[in-house]
Amino acid sequence: MKNPRTRFNDELFVKNGEDYLFKYLDSNVGRIDDSRRKFIKGMIFGIGAAAVASALGAIRGLEVPIVGAKSYTKMLLVDSTGSAVKASAFPVNNPIITLYEYPLQNEINFVLNLGDQQNNPVAVPAAEVTVPLDGSKYKFAGGVGPHKSIVSYSAICQHLGCSPPEIHLYPPDEMKTGMPPPALLPPEAITAANSAGIPAVIHCDCHGSTYDPYRGAAVLTGPTERPLPSVVLEWDSTTDQLYAVGEVGVPVYGHTSTLEGGTPVTGSSTVVTAKINPFP
Ligand code: FES
Repeated sequence: MKNPRTRFNDELFVKNGEDYLFKYLDSNVGRIDDSRRKFIKGMIFGIGAAAVASALGAIRGLEVPIVGAKSYTKMLLVDSTGSAVKASAFPVNNPIITLYEYPLQNEINFVLNLGDQQNNPVAVPAAEVTVPLDGSKYKFAGGVGPHKSIVSYSAICQHLGCSPPEIHLYPPDEMKTGMPPPALLPPEAITAANSAGIPAVIHCDCHGSTYDPYRGAAVLTGPTERPLPSVVLEWDSTTDQLYAVGEVGVPVYGHTSTLEGGTPVTGSSTVVTAKINPFP
């Protein structure tokens, strides 16, 4: 809630109920949309007008942070100590889920150094990615780094929003079935990878969506009908440093725009964190 211009009057609320409350909110907080209005009405009915303090606490919780970013900013990828991560230091076909937030704090992304079956880095070419949902297309810029093998994609599944460890890279050494979640790769994903001629996939254990990390995280198997958005990376060959500079593709799942619906990562860098190894 913004700093109220007028003090909330408990007595008027008890006396006039929701009429007073909504007038107060409209003039001090801002317009409350219909769905929140209904929720608040139900809450008042449930707890009674006397529980003013609790109601206000809950109403504060309903405030959606309508913040976002005006545009993409250039952010250096750093480790937890604040030191720049070096592109050449990223392990090829690393099974460990490695994430950073960009451009908003609730938008997590994989950073992947892709390789071949023998774990040698492979150049990832630019590609045109199709969105199966509507047939639209967009350009994926390809990999960066000394071998053009480093890519970055949203780590939030485009089907229903599952996040790591349910969704992650299955590197060549882990392209096998029969393992427990979160390493539950179905035969369909392996068949799709073989058809596409790729040695690794990104797969979501929640409902089986599979993405092609070598072609802009294009859809290999549903139920998703949208590819994973790609973070645009820049590599500085003189320093070996990596920068996130933008994003292409559909909006990050749960957002109408990748730049809206959360709090921007602030500063000029974003922290890359190695999370867990999903493979037993
Ligand atoms: S949320 Fe990933 S497949 Fe459903």
